[in-house]
Amino acid sequence: MSDSQYDVVVFGATSFVGQILTGYMLDTYGNNNDFKWAIAGRSEEKLQAVKTKYQAENIPHFIADAANEEQLTKIAQKTKVVVSTVGPYALYGEPLIKVCTKLGTDYCDLTGEIQWYKRMVTKYEQDAKKTGARIVHCSGFDSIPSDLGVLFLQTKAKQLFGSTCQQVKMRVAKLKGGASGGTIASMVNIAKEAAKDPELRKELKNPYSVCPENHNFKSRQDNVSGAVFDEDFNCWVGPFVMGIVNTRVVHRSNALLDNAYQEQFKYDEAMMMGQDKKGKSRARNMSWGLSAFMVLAAIKPTRWVLERFILLKPGQGPTEEEQLKGHYDMRFMGIHENGQKIVTKVTGDRDPGYGSTAKMLGQAAVCLSKISKQEKEGGFWTPASIYGERFIQALTEHSGLTFEVLDKK
Ligand SMILES: NC(=O)c1ccc[n+]([C@@H]2O[C@H](COP(=O)([O-])OP(=O)(O)OC[C@H]3O[C@@H](n4cnc5c(N)ncnc54)[C@H](OP(=O)(O)O)[C@@H]3O)[C@@H](O)[C@H]2O)c1
Repeated sequence: MSDSQYDVVVFGATSFVGQILTGYMLDTYGNNNDFKWAIAGRSEEKLQAVKTKYQAENIPHFIADAANEEQLTKIAQKTKVVVSTVGPYALYGEPLIKVCTKLGTDYCDLTGEIQWYKRMVTKYEQDAKKTGARIVHCSGFDSIPSDLGVLFLQTKAKQLFGSTCQQVKMRVAKLKGGASGGTIASMVNIAKEAAKDPELRKELKNPYSVCPENHNFKSRQDNVSGAVFDEDFNCWVGPFVMGIVNTRVVHRSNALLDNAYQEQFKYDEAMMMGQDKKGKSRARNMSWGLSAFMVLAAIKPTRWVLERFILLKPGQGPTEEEQLKGHYDMRFMGIHENGQKIVTKVTGDRDPGYGSTAKMLGQAAVCLSKISKQEKEGGFWTPASIYGERFIQALTEHSGLTFEVLDKK
């Protein structure tokens, strides 16, 4: 059991996103006695470099390799929450989940690797329930804006219409910001695993793949995979790369919130591409581009060419200027069974994958450290199901997000 010398330890402080998170924690919480935090990673030299870069010399640090359970245990015993950015998680993440669920230490991360999420729930949920460890995957751009965006819309729908909407559509209106080597490495790893495993390919198509086993959801879910004209939003839409993760997380939230969005709930995500012919061809190109990437990443020789010459390497990502100039705007439409509709908007003020993700992940870790074990028991939670509405306020105050109702009729 943790003796809670620290509230939060950032594991992977040397990663691209871990460094931004370290800077954010320092700016937001400093190094005072009210909130105690530390950083960790596998390399003393790299951790020292991060401390120098952010003038964080007084922040304690720990050395641990992601595969060394003894070192991970020493960290997990000292803190309420470990927040990890060490990925691809399917390659490096399991020992820390094992240690945290064994000790009852809370944990959150940035994984978007839904196949790994499923493996971890299946393998460690019983341990987490026994020890009281709360595990919260997908605490970055995927899937906080989607998961909390749906919670926000449904809360408003309940106030306005008396009950939640049976269907919600999320459409990305604007998105500016680049990918990092770590994220690309995670996507390549999913393609690689899926190419070898037909069961996994089937699992990746299941919208309820990370729902608890006893869920009763049967609705056929929409899935925008090509260019489609969306009458509700009056524009062409194309596939949204994170939809495969976000939709799964939102359905798990519905299950963990005792079907608060209803048993027949339908949810899908897509990107708005414009109303005219150009919009149609953009949507088509997006669909072809994504399919081509997954095929090329799945085949060994082309994967080698991509990794060697084209894609960013782990540790690389958008510049500080690109992070600052980045932003996103997501629209949600709730369709109530009585025919009424509500439209809401969620925005973020930095590039989604890094500047904004680091601020959301920092708040997720802080929020988790403040939720008592009596209030939420051990298990694998989603952001919406564990943090609830208080998190919307924290994200608005400290992470540059906005949540707004645009239209209700
Ligand atoms: N959900 C989202 O919205 C979102 C957004 C951004 C990123 N991500 C995910 O977050 C993860 C991090 O992304 P990134 O771009 O920051 O990655 P990155 O820069 O490639 O960093 C990877 C980190 O893992 C560490 N690491 C690798 N092997 C290790 C080991 N054996 N022991 C300890 N540490 C080890 C590296 O340590 P060294 O520095 O010592 O090499 C580095 O700190 C990726 O999985 C990515 O997919 C998700």
